[in-house]
Amino acid sequence: MEKTLIIIKPGAVQRGLIGEVLSRFEKKGLQVCGIKMIRFTEESVSEHYAHLSQKPFFNRIKRAMMISPVIVCCLQGVDAVRVVRHLVGATNGREALPGTVRGDFSMSVQENIVHASDSTDSAETELTRFFSPEELFDYDFNNRGFIYANNEF
Ligand code: TYD
Repeated sequence: MEKTLIIIKPGAVQRGLIGEVLSRFEKKGLQVCGIKMIRFTEESVSEHYAHLSQKPFFNRIKRAMMISPVIVCCLQGVDAVRVVRHLVGATNGREALPGTVRGDFSMSVQENIVHASDSTDSAETELTRFFSPEELFDYDFNNRGFIYANNEF
């Protein structure tokens, strides 16, 4: 089982879309293993977007991420990183396909509702950044036999 991180961004929190966005992942069959509300600081958002520090929009997206609290959430499932990226859709909400979170709820590149880890390595780094070990839960997910065939997990 793989774990990945999503962040429900300030725009989705402000627009009352937390439940709607989270339910996309739950209905798909992903298991919520940790969830909390946090507020980004200058330090934590700079670390999170360090790979974009040379981009002209770096300061703009950092400000946008600090404007209100966000929801950080750990999702678990088979191929969770790839599955969640597919559900999230393309970076630009105007290009993202209908049926994806961004395709259905976003008209913007910056205001694109949700962040999702883009590789298993970054998922591990990002989960460690936002969650202490005792904030992530391994628990029986009793409907697994209805989400996967018994040779899939
Ligand atoms: P990036 O990691 O490239 O995309 P993704 O979130 O799909 O993995 O970019 C991080 C965030 O930066 C992106 O979700 C929205 C914002 N962003 C802009 O505001 N303008 C841009 O031109 C790009 C590429 C990203």
